[in-house]
Amino acid sequence: MNYLTQKELKTTRIFLNKGYIIKRVENVISHKYIQKKIKNEISRLLKLKRKINLNYLHLYVSKEKLNDLRVNLINSVNKDKNFKFHYFNLAKSNLYTLINNELMMQKNINISIQLPNDDSSLLPIHSDVWSGDSPYEFNLWVPMVNCYKTKSMYILNPKDNQKFNKTIIKNKKLLSSASVYNKLKKKLKWLKVNTGEFMIFDQTLPHGNVVNLEKHTRVSLNCRFKSIFSPYGDKKIGEFFIPITPRASTKIGSKYKFPF
Ligand SMILES: [Fe+2]
Repeated sequence: MNYLTQKELKTTRIFLNKGYIIKRVENVISHKYIQKKIKNEISRLLKLKRKINLNYLHLYVSKEKLNDLRVNLINSVNKDKNFKFHYFNLAKSNLYTLINNELMMQKNINISIQLPNDDSSLLPIHSDVWSGDSPYEFNLWVPMVNCYKTKSMYILNPKDNQKFNKTIIKNKKLLSSASVYNKLKKKLKWLKVNTGEFMIFDQTLPHGNVVNLEKHTRVSLNCRFKSIFSPYGDKKIGEFFIPITPRASTKIGSKYKFPF
């Protein structure tokens, strides 16, 4: 039995088949808010007088100063409560479809910046679950510039992941991320996500990035969501996740005490 609508079923089918969905953002006003905030904060932190085109961020920040910029940027945008609200709005109905309508959201949205030819901020192939995340968490990934090829990220599809999982048990050589990457290299899908689009992906699937060999800088945001009442991994309620859409039955049920 499945009472999802045709539209929800289609989204679910695509997600289960590919391990991700890529769609236009659901709320253009929220998207403008996010983009404006990121650009303004970067300009402020770098003391720039002109509006910045994020594709050319590498012209304004060195590899050495990149991490400071990233950390300061994360701190400043996450202090703004509207920022998180607008971020959620980018994909609200798709998060409801794929996860639940009672959601936990990661307290702090992450920002990644990949300058061309910079090998200092790489994410070698991994599944977040391998390092303690709950498999019930999905990641909402939003690019601030067009992302493609090595300027983007890659992911392994669910079918090949199943095959790979069987080989891990048998093959003890697959202990380093380099050997895992080499084994899976040909199967990995490079994700083309343009500005104005979002991606929700299954972080149980192996994913990562390599050195950005394109001409322009990548700036992208990511944040995990999960159902309030789904099992937790290392990332706990309160310290990492906050409830953003609790419903009446949860409010009543969670506070209820037997009167006798
Ligand atoms: Fe990850």
